[in-house]
Amino acid sequence: MQIHEKIAGLRAALKTARRVALVPTMGNLHEGHIALMTQARVHGDSVVASIFVNRLQFRPGEDFEKYPRTFAADCEKLSTAGVDHLFAPTEAEMYPQPQSYYIDPSPEQANILDGEFRPGHFRGMATVVMKLFQIVQPQTALFGKKDYQQLMVIRNLVQELNLPIEIVPGDTVRAADGLALSSRNGYLSAVEKAEAPRLYRLLERIAAALRGGSRDFAGLEQATIAELQSHGWIPDYIAVRNRTDLQLPAFHDSGLVVLAAAQLGSTRLIDNLEV
Ligand code: PAJ
Repeated sequence: MQIHEKIAGLRAALKTARRVALVPTMGNLHEGHIALMTQARVHGDSVVASIFVNRLQFRPGEDFEKYPRTFAADCEKLSTAGVDHLFAPTEAEMYPQPQSYYIDPSPEQANILDGEFRPGHFRGMATVVMKLFQIVQPQTALFGKKDYQQLMVIRNLVQELNLPIEIVPGDTVRAADGLALSSRNGYLSAVEKAEAPRLYRLLERIAAALRGGSRDFAGLEQATIAELQSHGWIPDYIAVRNRTDLQLPAFHDSGLVVLAAAQLGSTRLIDNLEV
């Protein structure tokens, strides 16, 4: 695996590549990331992973400084997974001057759900992803459904700005107890780690009720919030939405997704489940 810190070096190495598949990450890689790398191989003769903890998508007071940086272990995993190129730029390489042009997703996409609780997050995320697309110029880019709203924002970005990139979704990889793998799981204490799978169990319960014909979206959401609170969680939202635009579903809509974000101790977890 070639490791590139510089844009020029990466571009030179990719000059002869025919089909490039990109998997952007912030590092501290786990099986969820690696599954995307494996899936990328199907789409590209050159698989490029990127690792960059993007300051622009963190708000003041969030975990930018303490976000786990495990570069040596990440390189091992990527190399074992058969990744061809790792792009791991420094902050100075990505932002040589303060960023003054941004990709601003529409408020309907960016100010709801996670965007309501993390103002500016999707703007910072979309901006760095656009920069990565320009740098790598992939034919395909892979994103996990774990970050469902992120995937929707990226799909819309590619469509509305006519980028010649196919966006491929990856299924959420979970631990045996159902907990969605996440770099932030490392912040959990042993007690919290035992409690954390409750979030997914409750999403499954909502999904079962919806499959059983319930359309009491608000009732299901409220009951889940109350249950999480009684077990010490601080929920940001539990929301039944349309899969395509993440807006409120009408009574007869199918193709739903249940999305959740909640804080357990000092760790904010997100998860979702398609119904
Ligand atoms: P990061 O959180 O490192 O995630 C990188 C990719 O891995 C994303 O597409 C995410 O959805 C996917 N992923 C994370 N956990 C997963 C799991 N359990 N199963 C399947 N896929 C999973 O998302 C980001 O980084 C950043 O916002 C980024 C897109 C790199 C822009 O900075």
